[in-house]
Order: sequence, then structure tokens, then C-alpha cells
Amino acid sequence: MIKINSFEEYKEHYKLSVEQPEKFWDYIANEFVWHKKWTKTLEWNFEEPKINWFINGQLNITQNCIDRHLPQYANKTAFIFEPNNPNEKNEIISYQKLHDEVCRLANVLLKMGVNKGDTVCIYMPMIPQAVYAMLACARIGAIHSVVFGGFSSNALKDRINDAKCKIILTTDGAYRGNKVIPMKETIDEALTHCDSVKNVLVYKRTNTKVTMLNNRDLDWEEEIKNQPTICEPVFVDSEHPLFILYTSGSTGKPKGVVHTTGGYMVYTAYTFTNVFQYSPNDIYWCTADVGWITGHSYIAYAPLLNAATTVLFEGVPTYPDASRFWQVIDKHNVTHFYTAPTAIRALEAAGLDFVKPYKLSSLKVLGSVGEPINEEAWHWYNTNIGKNNCPIVDTWWQTETAGILISPLAGITKTKPGYATLPLPGIQPILVDDKGVEITGNSIEGNLCIKFPWPGIIRTTYGDHERCKQTYFSTYKGLYFTGDGCKRDKDGNYRITGRVDDVINVSGHRIGTAEVESAINMHEDIVESAVTGYPHEIKGQGIYAYCITTNDNKNSDQLKKEIIEIVNKEIGPIAKPDKIQIVNGLPKTRSGKIMRRILRKVAEGEISNLGDTSTLLDPNVVDDILKGRIH
Ligand code: PRX
Repeated sequence: MIKINSFEEYKEHYKLSVEQPEKFWDYIANEFVWHKKWTKTLEWNFEEPKINWFINGQLNITQNCIDRHLPQYANKTAFIFEPNNPNEKNEIISYQKLHDEVCRLANVLLKMGVNKGDTVCIYMPMIPQAVYAMLACARIGAIHSVVFGGFSSNALKDRINDAKCKIILTTDGAYRGNKVIPMKETIDEALTHCDSVKNVLVYKRTNTKVTMLNNRDLDWEEEIKNQPTICEPVFVDSEHPLFILYTSGSTGKPKGVVHTTGGYMVYTAYTFTNVFQYSPNDIYWCTADVGWITGHSYIAYAPLLNAATTVLFEGVPTYPDASRFWQVIDKHNVTHFYTAPTAIRALEAAGLDFVKPYKLSSLKVLGSVGEPINEEAWHWYNTNIGKNNCPIVDTWWQTETAGILISPLAGITKTKPGYATLPLPGIQPILVDDKGVEITGNSIEGNLCIKFPWPGIIRTTYGDHERCKQTYFSTYKGLYFTGDGCKRDKDGNYRITGRVDDVINVSGHRIGTAEVESAINMHEDIVESAVTGYPHEIKGQGIYAYCITTNDNKNSDQLKKEIIEIVNKEIGPIAKPDKIQIVNGLPKTRSGKIMRRILRKVAEGEISNLGDTSTLLDPNVVDDILKGRIH
């Protein structure tokens, strides 16, 4: 993969990518195996939006992830699987083994009647079979929709129905620290409301007892047992959807972000090489889950496209104790470590005694992703983990962008704590004011937009193109709007300040306030609720819920418990409110709109300056809320 070797080279590449984007991306795309070469590099407009890259090209991404490497790297390790339990033996998966497993599973999918373009739901823990599942789909041109294992059966049901999945791949259960979490049982609950699903393939991971429904549920091992280890790749058009991944926005239910094959491959592979400055003998570890975009792009696809060796970790940072990450780094001589600020802060809080016993001398590059990294966490990471010797790449990007857009290149770009620094080649960020007027110059702040497409940009939202247009391309005409606020310093470095819409970032997970509100409102004693974020020491943001109840007789602790339960049931534990305040009313304007600004300030504890409250229907509501504020 074409690698930038110096800051001078970065500037040259960047210049070329802006002045002649098609020439630039042609050059990168030429490094891959194409069944049929593209005839035109790019066609686009941000109005519809319609964005096509590598037009008329045909390829199979798994051929590029696996087969292409076999002549040289058949025995090279693709994955080191590190199980949840440190006493369970880790498993080494070579590129050859990966090939064989993916092909066998792809053959099972074919046998189950999965065709090119069909959608397959993957609801699995962080085990190698989850990656086999994604690649097996891609092998035959099926579209995967991975749903994070922590989502509840209701959330799962909505995603299965929206994507009209034909097949589900899952496990009996999942290990998570000292807990065993049911997976198949959750699928069974969801499937009482899903008509599209024909079969469920179940991999035994925890030996949890499960019910297997005749004619619908199949045993994974039984099915792959007799399958050949060859499955010819199905070639698809560059713009054939590779996957759907659901993500939260300001309004309504989560939407299925669609990424397509050619552009996604080129963009994720290119950014992996250059941001991490990965070399062939390095051992890379990204601690994300394959249920999120980071897991898709920087655990599954991009490392494999670079013939990298990746640690695949099933566990959690604090099991058996808060030294687990550091122990695994020493155990596997990890050179590149990529995690989220929330994990860094949690491990910092656990104390240095958990770090000290480990050498961490193999480390070369540290990464951060998912939320703004506060300066304190940045310095702790730099000093105690990187030993002041490893560049930190603070990578800013989103589910919709497929890959990293703004980040230092490790060891090449000068880092600055709290700053994602500079745009990668091909990325043209601009900051605009609330009217969409560009704010030029440096030392400025505004809403972050991108004005030119890159190969990994979102193509549509599954089944509802209008929603894609409204959400990302209509706020500011002719621009892709990220939903993030951003500062640009005097040297042109970007600092992401957080979401400017009604999305909360809890432990690096995106949660829409509307989703949480609609779950809370399902409680029979709740008439209305409003949810906002507030600064949380470990999670980055916590969830603060204001709720109006009709049942004043109910013990409020009991009511709060029930509210948490209902959010768990409707979405999953990641969305449960940290603070719940029962209120008599919400601050509304005369037209009935909730003034969220006030609620946000109260939750954040910024109560001395609540701004203008004179337009409120009933200003007394605010005094009431202030009195009952949860500290
Ligand atoms: O607000 C930004 C924040 O996470 C959002 C994207 O979330 P998601 O689609 O779940 O993808 C997360 C993994 C890429 C962004 O809109 N975000 C992500 N990375 C950073 C960040 N905020 C600040 N700095 C980052 N490095």
C-alpha cells in the first residue's frame, strides 16, 4: 500500500488529492485486484446525493483481504484470538486458515439459499467466527448487518426488520468478564416479530443451553463440517453494498448506513497504512467490537487488506482486573494499540499499580477513537503507556465516513493533545456558521462539514434514501454535515468539540436522545420525558433524563428502577440513564417546543447562566427543575 514517509510527502499527497482527486484515488485503487477495472473514477453530486466511485469496476473484497496474500503470506498470522478468560489458550489464525474458514461458511450460506444482494444479520461476540461471518457474506456478495451484541431483543428486531434479513448468524451465549450473556435467547425473542428470517445458524461458544427450532435453527459446526474449503468469490460492482450498519441520529429510530464495496476497500486500506504507519511485522490491536464501525473497518477489513496481524480480543479491559490490556500487550508484543478515551480514563482511575508490572516495550504507536480525548487522559496515555515514546493518533471519523478523516500520521504529523490535527489526503473539511456560511482563516470555531467526496463516504441509508439526504446533505447546501462542532487553531489543526445535534456520546457509543425518550415514554406512568447529555468523568458523557409522571403515589426509587429496566429492554444497557429527575413540567416555548438548551445546562451544572427564559410558557418550571437537580 502506498505509504507516506514524511511530512513533506503528506503535503504533496494532500495537494494532489485536492487538485486532482481522481488521479490520486486511481493511483491508490490500482494496488488492488480488480476483476474488471473501472472505467470512470468518480461521479457525484451532494444534492441527491449520488456518489459513485470506481464506476463499472468489479471486484470481491475478500479476494483482496485474503486470496491476494496467500502466495506470500499463507502461513502468516491474520488473527491472534485472545479469549475473555486469560487461562483459555489463545488461537492463531493464519491467512490460509482464514481463507478456509471463510470459504466453508460461505458455502453454508449458499446452501441456505443466500444470494448476492441478500441481507444477513450477524449478532455475535468478539470471536473469530464473527469475522468469518462478515467475510463469508462478502465472499458471495451478500450484505451483512452486524448488530452489537449488547443490544436488546427489541433493538435487534427493529434492525432485522428494517434490513429484511434472511439469515441470522449468532452464538449460544457470549462471555463478558465474569458474566455469560445469552445471545440465541435474545434472537429467539426478537424473531417472534420478524417474518423475513428463514434460518438461524448458531455457533456454540459458551455451551449455554438453547432451544433449537426445527427447520429454522442450524448448528454451525454441523453445517460447516463437510463443506469444502474453496468457494469461488462472487464478483460485484464497485457500488454493490458491502454492509449496513445501524447508527443513531437526532431523530427517530437508528438508520442503516450503507457502505459499498470498492470505495470502502480503497479508503479503509489506505487510511490504515498511513495513519498507523503499519509495517509487515507489526502486531496491531484495536480493542473495539465488530458491532461498531471501528470494528468493521479497523479490525476486520483494513488490517486484512494490508496483510496485517491483528489481536482479536473477546474480553473487557477490567477482567480479571484492570491490567488486562497491558498484560495482553506484553503477551503478544503488540506494536500498535488503538482504543477509546473512555477505556483510557477508566484504566487511569484504576491506578498505576495495574500498569507498573508490564514492560509495554513493544509498543510503537497508540491510537484513540470514538470521542474527544481530554488532555489529561491524553497525557496519562502518552506517559504511562507510550512512555513518551509512541506517537498518539487521535483519529476523528464516523460510521458514515467508513474510515478515518482527520488524524495525525503516526510519527509524521506533529501531535497536539486534544487535537485530531490534520485532514488525511482526499479530505476537504470546512467550518461553517449556523447559516452555512464558510468561516475562513484559522483560530476559528464552527460546524464541521466536508465539501468533496472521498471513496468511503456514506452512499445511502438503507431503504430510505431521503433520510440520508435530509440528515447529512440538507442542513448546509452542497456539503456533507458531520453533526460535530469543531475548532481550527492557528496552525490549521482541528479539534473536535463534540456533537452539535441531539446525539450523546456515551463511552464512545452514539445514542440519540429521541431514542431514549421514546423508550422511557413506553413506561405506563410516564407522560413525557426529555433526555440530554452531561459531562461524565469516565464515560465522556452520561445520560440525564427528566421525566414527568402521572403516578405521584409511586415511590420514586421504584419508578427510576423501572425506567432503567424499560430502557434496557427497548435499547440495551448502553443507553440506560445515569441520572433520572422526576419533574412536574418541562421548559417549553409557547409553541410547545422543549427548550433543550436549558435542560442541558442544568444537567451540566451550568446553572448560573441559563440564558433567556422569558419566552417560556411557564418560567416557574425552571425553578422547580433547579431545585430537584441531581448532582
Ligand atoms: O462526535 C464524533 C465522535 O464520534 C462520532 C461518531 O460516532 P460513531 O459513528 O459511533 O463512530 C465512532 C468511531 C469512529 C463523531 O461524530 N468522535 C469519533 N472520533 C472522535 C470523535 N470525537 C472527537 N475526537 C475523535 N477522535
